Amino acid sequence: MVAMENPLVSPYKMGKFNLSHRVVLAPLTRQRSYNHVPQSHAALYYSQRASKGGLLISEATVISLSSQWYPNIPAIWTKEQVQAWKPIVDAVHAKGGIFFCQIGHVGRVYDPEYHPDGQELISSTDKPLTQFTPPRRLRTEEISHVINDFRLAARNAIEAGFDGVEIHGAHGFLLEQFMKDKVNDRTDEYGGSLENRCRFTLEVVEAIVNEIGAERVGIRLSPYADYAESGDSNPEALGLYLVNALNKYGILYCHMVEPRMKTVGEKVESPHSLVQMRKAFNGTFIVAGGYDREDGIKAIRENRTDLVAYGRLFLANPDLPKRFALDHAPLNKYNRQTFYTSDPVIGYTDYPFLE
Ligand SMILES: Cc1cc2nc3c(=O)[nH]c(=O)nc-3n(C[C@H](O)[C@H](O)[C@H](O)COP(=O)(O)O)c2cc1C
Repeated sequence: MVAMENPLVSPYKMGKFNLSHRVVLAPLTRQRSYNHVPQSHAALYYSQRASKGGLLISEATVISLSSQWYPNIPAIWTKEQVQAWKPIVDAVHAKGGIFFCQIGHVGRVYDPEYHPDGQELISSTDKPLTQFTPPRRLRTEEISHVINDFRLAARNAIEAGFDGVEIHGAHGFLLEQFMKDKVNDRTDEYGGSLENRCRFTLEVVEAIVNEIGAERVGIRLSPYADYAESGDSNPEALGLYLVNALNKYGILYCHMVEPRMKTVGEKVESPHSLVQMRKAFNGTFIVAGGYDREDGIKAIRENRTDLVAYGRLFLANPDLPKRFALDHAPLNKYNRQTFYTSDPVIGYTDYPFLE
């Protein structure tokens, strides 16, 4: 009997990028960028996970002072931050990797312990998250300023050497606070109808496409997720509306979080699927959330996606694509306790490679 080909390690052309396999590093916040400046240990961390023709997506990187609500998350809005990213991007390129920067704004979601002086929370709404500080509702005329911050961050990412950006439109971050009807209670042209709620996100996409070119732009969406109290009453309609609207801009990829991922790390049974969105979207489709090797192989074989992003497994297995190329390679277990600790080595660059 002839062994079936393993599609996870088959080549794929994503726009102008020649990928040698389908195993993508999902964006993973690691909170080791002291004072929001990327550090040299990140060069080792990302280069460990880089492979020739492999796509890596950076941890969520913030675009402005008002988006900096977690300690030690990287930023990309000052010259110093842009400079600090350069050696990290170079280290990935040196191994032939393709590196996209995930850029985002947390809006009303922040760590209540961490509250830079004089900064206020902004959102689509003035409703707070349970036990959090109430945000200030963005005024209509202020939205263009945030769009401009996104545009400049994308420009900075290219300046730092990244191959492109992934707009963070998932997980209850600011853009989702506009898109999801359980949060957005606006009465201006950014609230109400699906079209209105998606307007901000699509304006961000348009601004970034105009700035760096559609072939360098991806977006992450999680219509079904309910992270940070950001649910929607009709996720399927939301997701379908978005992919169809995104087609007009011809962006490179759409990265969707599976309906089964209700929260980070919590996989539940779900009757829903992303198949309709996958069919409707014209660019490269990436799925994420609770995938293992077999699941990933199956999803590609059934043409439910082009690429599969792996979070926790890639975090703990720097050579994940190589392990997935083998039939029975063992996997390191991830240690949840060190996901967000600030140590530059432990739980970060000390996961062993396969001998
Ligand atoms: C430690 C950690 C940090 C994460 N940080 C981000 C992030 O910065 N941006 C994002 O969009 N998702 C983030 N996620 C979600 C992952 O990208 C991914 O969607 C999730 O872990 C589910 O995939 P998995 O089952 O392969 O781990 C994070 C998840 C973990 C575990």
